[in-house]
Amino acid sequence: MPKILTTDLLNSLSEAYGDAFYLLESTTFEENYKELTAAFKAYYPKFNIAYSYKTNYTPKIVQIVNRLGGYAEVVSEMEMEIALRSGVPASRIVWNGPIKNQNKVKELLLTGGMVNVDSVYEIENIRAIAENHPDHMLNLGVRCNYDVGDGVVSRFGFDVYGQDFDTVLRFIADTPNLRLVNLQAHFAKRSPEFWTARAEGMLKTYDTIVQKYGLKPEHLDIGGGIFGKMPDLLREQLKIGKITYDDYAKQAAKQFAEHFKGNPDAPYLFIEPGSAVAGDCMRFVSKIKTIKDVRGKTFATVIGSQKNISMSGINPPMEIVAGGKTQKQYNNLDIVGFTCIEGDVLQKNYCGNLAVGDYIVIGNCGSYSLVMKPPFILPNCAVLDINGDKVELIKRAETFDDLFHTFKF
Ligand SMILES: Cc1ncc(COP(=O)(O)O)c(C=O)c1O
Repeated sequence: MPKILTTDLLNSLSEAYGDAFYLLESTTFEENYKELTAAFKAYYPKFNIAYSYKTNYTPKIVQIVNRLGGYAEVVSEMEMEIALRSGVPASRIVWNGPIKNQNKVKELLLTGGMVNVDSVYEIENIRAIAENHPDHMLNLGVRCNYDVGDGVVSRFGFDVYGQDFDTVLRFIADTPNLRLVNLQAHFAKRSPEFWTARAEGMLKTYDTIVQKYGLKPEHLDIGGGIFGKMPDLLREQLKIGKITYDDYAKQAAKQFAEHFKGNPDAPYLFIEPGSAVAGDCMRFVSKIKTIKDVRGKTFATVIGSQKNISMSGINPPMEIVAGGKTQKQYNNLDIVGFTCIEGDVLQKNYCGNLAVGDYIVIGNCGSYSLVMKPPFILPNCAVLDINGDKVELIKRAETFDDLFHTFKF
């Protein structure tokens, strides 16, 4: 259950940390992580998670993943640095992504990390590292691309029926100090119906690789793209039914269990959740600064923006917490952001009580929010982790100098 936010609590947090802030509940993240793991392990015990850093790379969160034995799925040297500074051992970092800093790839490979090759353009660099360090065994993965019936032609990885796929696998098989540890895939559409094809495609690719190249990857990673928990109001607007973690596990892990039944060398099944575990663990709080009528329409402006919450075109889950001033009843009032963008509307047609100084609290802000907020006309706000009665500042509000010290004045 998320912490109930009272007037007293929000007034005191606002006094200490500003008129807008994120409220993380890291305990919710941890519960989601454990529940998702249990759902997949129920069918296939050789299971682990490579948490998608890009979804929400808050150190407090990624340290939970690390403590629970999960891997870090990173897609840039910046994310790799977050993992290392958060105490993740290189051996539990997996670097995905289409473009990689080649020097950093070398650093990760030589310290025992894993790199998922996305295209043949990465081969020359890896060949040079392998030749110059014959005493190091380098751990590689290959990103696989196949049809899962979702109508999308993904631009990532290797077409498993293409010539380049053969080239990269022969290269790995023929180079003595390269080890194919991982086959990886990810598909963006989150409907569980595509997870059967994900698992099928991966298992078929695995069998082919074992047979044709004599390579035996130890991890089969079928990516992220799982819906997290959300209130009915959000489900209805996104046109999603009641989907549980088990719906995904049933489609994928069950197939793995059948495929590898009685096989002592069965590989680990990995997934790369982001939204599934981070989505509902964060709320965004923002104070109402003005309420005004313009040509028959009422607008309330907050010191937050759509850019803080990464939700547009819908009414995100929201509650109003009174700030203490006398409220008035409004009908069809729009709650709008501080930016000068007309479309920066956080809540359309709000009907209910409101006063300047009240707080809007927007739920399900944990994924692609903080990490995607640009410094558009204001630096970003603080992030607090709230656990029972304990409040911990885990990111202070950004200052002007945080953002502008790279410019020349
Ligand atoms: C390779 C990869 N893995 C995992 C994820 C996480 O996806 P989600 O947040 O839908 O779980 C993404 C998201 O884009 C991704 O590109």
